[in-house]
Amino acid sequence: MEQKLKGQIAIITGASSGIGAGCAIELAKAGATVVVNYPIPQGKEMAERVVEEIIANGGTAISYKCDVSKEDEVTGMFADTVKEFGTVDILVNNAGLQKDAPFTEMTLDQWNYVLAVNLTGQFLCAREAIKEFLRRGVNGKSKSAGKIICMSSVHEVIPWAGHANYAASKGGVMLMMKTIAQEFAPKMIRINSIAPGAIATPINHDAWDTQAHLQELLKLIPQKRVGQVGDIGKAAVWLASDDSDYVNGTTLFVDGGMTLYPGFEDNG
Ligand code: BGC
Repeated sequence: MEQKLKGQIAIITGASSGIGAGCAIELAKAGATVVVNYPIPQGKEMAERVVEEIIANGGTAISYKCDVSKEDEVTGMFADTVKEFGTVDILVNNAGLQKDAPFTEMTLDQWNYVLAVNLTGQFLCAREAIKEFLRRGVNGKSKSAGKIICMSSVHEVIPWAGHANYAASKGGVMLMMKTIAQEFAPKMIRINSIAPGAIATPINHDAWDTQAHLQELLKLIPQKRVGQVGDIGKAAVWLASDDSDYVNGTTLFVDGGMTLYPGFEDNG
């Protein structure tokens, strides 16, 4: 198989499980050297399992602990990656979480925590990545000086009752992504988002763990299947590769049609 990301260095945040792990595995298969980021010491074992899978597939990866909401930890992760591998070519800004609550019961801590990881974390990582892309410029490995893929959600456009903090964070990711794509396109830096629909991961386990829940969820997915992390990982490889060289500042929805207003299929 042609390795479209051969020799490129990728930091993938929140890569010890779920969509981040799926992206790490697919980018490594495409030839990237992958930094598998995880947030807390307890995550090390899971991150190491992802690293082992990558190495077993013939790829190269290390695990790295960093809480993306902490400025000093983020600058440290980028500095250490540059020290170890020479540069960073790709950032998958993936780390994200949910702390759901009905709006009138949502605590300020729940609000702040989700915004800190999902939006501020993407800001801090994107800022460090772009500084490195600008320092290095275009090298022989890609037409771009660097690529950033922001993990958004269908909830950057679909309102989601009971998840105001999460939906606000993803709406924020959308306009941050577009704004910095506009700012840095002249410098040959490409920044795009992926908006996953319902992908089977620990974050939405309750939505598909029983037949009854699964049937309810499938009503929202015209394609009638829950997504897999590989669906997102493969899209991330495409957005990171020169195959998408003219794609900039856009959101790629990978959602089995969830954003197609499935309620209108036989109504309206
Ligand atoms: C959320 C999942 C949810 C999906 C579709 C994602 O962004 O994290 O919990 O299943 O959107 O609603």
